[in-house]
Amino acid sequence: MKAAYLIKYGSAGIAFEIRETVKPRPKPNQILISVEAFGLNFADVMARLGLYKAAPRLPAILGYDVVGKVVEIGKEVTRIKIGERVTALTRFGGYAEYAIAESNMVFTIPETFSPGVAVALATQYSTAHFLAYNMANLQENDNVLIHAAAGGVGTALTQMALHKKCTVFGTCSSSDKVKYIRQNGVHHPINYKEGDFGEAVQKILGNDGLDAIFDPVGGRSVKKGYRLLRAGGRLFSFGVSRMNQTKSIFGKLRVAYQFGFYHPLQFLGKSKGIVGINILKVGEENPEKLSKAMEAVVQMTEQGILKPHVGGEFSVTEIAEAHIFLESRRSMGKIVIKWSLKSRL
Ligand SMILES: NC(=O)c1ccc[n+]([C@@H]2O[C@H](COP(=O)([O-])OP(=O)(O)OC[C@H]3O[C@@H](n4cnc5c(N)ncnc54)[C@H](OP(=O)(O)O)[C@@H]3O)[C@@H](O)[C@H]2O)c1
Repeated sequence: MKAAYLIKYGSAGIAFEIRETVKPRPKPNQILISVEAFGLNFADVMARLGLYKAAPRLPAILGYDVVGKVVEIGKEVTRIKIGERVTALTRFGGYAEYAIAESNMVFTIPETFSPGVAVALATQYSTAHFLAYNMANLQENDNVLIHAAAGGVGTALTQMALHKKCTVFGTCSSSDKVKYIRQNGVHHPINYKEGDFGEAVQKILGNDGLDAIFDPVGGRSVKKGYRLLRAGGRLFSFGVSRMNQTKSIFGKLRVAYQFGFYHPLQFLGKSKGIVGINILKVGEENPEKLSKAMEAVVQMTEQGILKPHVGGEFSVTEIAEAHIFLESRRSMGKIVIKWSLKSRL
């Protein structure tokens, strides 16, 4: 089979090579999928830059989400059958013609789901579901701030907060994105390139505060966000996209410092807090929760409650362009990369 290997850390143009490799075989509880398309996630950019500790060593096949047909199942798998069209969360290995997934991370989907919609559900929507409904337990009338609201996870979080009838604030970095997040339902879009997001939120809220903040950017936005929470509020820190701007150890330490320093007694006194989330860890230590989140997002999409937006479609030979697009911060929603199925006939 063919796979897009990450062979070098650094700029996308020199990072990937499509190579022939051996088709994997499923273990008793695993499923082998013939991949129609795979998704990009911001973590892939971090992995390509050598900034993602959990990524496999080079040469590596990245990739967290795939859509395709089940071609082989392990002997203990009962809930999925050969021939079904599925979306799946892979723990790497997704940038390939055939990918392996644990059976509890594979979900049957209708033929009507486009490849982009299908892969958006695997990592971005299941992460958002876990954040919004498990961790944050969003309630009607909550004031919610979503950073990178035009991105894949941001689009999903917005739709989930709106479903709970929350008031949604969203940040982004361009006027095109402001238009996009407004269309997605954000009540208060904030272009942080035009002014301080903290001041913008404060101006709208007056003496009120936020109940939940979803922050994948990290550094000083966490420190600033924490101040905007009211009693009972929590900030969910789930990424450090800011880190890709710095290569030196000093730069990384500066970003770490900018998060601020907190003691649980502060949280106690002010009745607010900060929580970190790593969905890979949840998948490892509490797979049932992640599995339920995935099942829920597939159902909610079938019911028309969730509407993943596909912001870019590329072929596998354009993988560098797809990475550049995501890294450029111009992308909105999910980016999907398709294999030409002809190559396998
Ligand atoms: N913890 C977890 O388990 C988990 C799971 C999934 C995703 N994540 C994290 O969630 C975030 C969103 O992931 P995604 O795949 O949906 O990506 P995405 O939001 O579609 O793309 C990343 C966005 O982050 C914003 N951003 C802010 N600062 C940036 C910087 N210095 N460099 C690049 N982008 C920056 C940009 O939007 P603006 O320019 O509009 O701000 C950019 O479009 C990422 O940080 C990712 O690592 C975490």
